[in-house]
Amino acid sequence: MQVFEKHVFVCVSGKTCPGQGAVEVCDALRKEISERGLKKQIRINKAGCFDQCGHGPLIVVYPESVWYAHVTADDVKEIVESHLIGGQPVQRLLYDGSGRIV
Ligand code: FES
Repeated sequence: MQVFEKHVFVCVSGKTCPGQGAVEVCDALRKEISERGLKKQIRINKAGCFDQCGHGPLIVVYPESVWYAHVTADDVKEIVESHLIGGQPVQRLLYDGSGRIV
């Protein structure tokens, strides 16, 4: 069985991310990945709280451990095209544990 090249975890069940649109972001990621025929390469996983509440919706991409904060459904296409397919993280959304880096 083929293993996934990337996992994208979306915080959808903590105190704040669900109320900030995390489920919509997760759904948009799944839709984008599905429409591009990438479901065997890239896995979108719902996750519990990342202990970074208030910066959400938060997502983290592995294996490179890239974090994004305040992601909206409108950001999903750029994340997929630039990072998940192109290998270039979206700088304006990066998160370093205290806030966006840029
Ligand atoms: S609710 Fe998302 S980090 Fe806590």
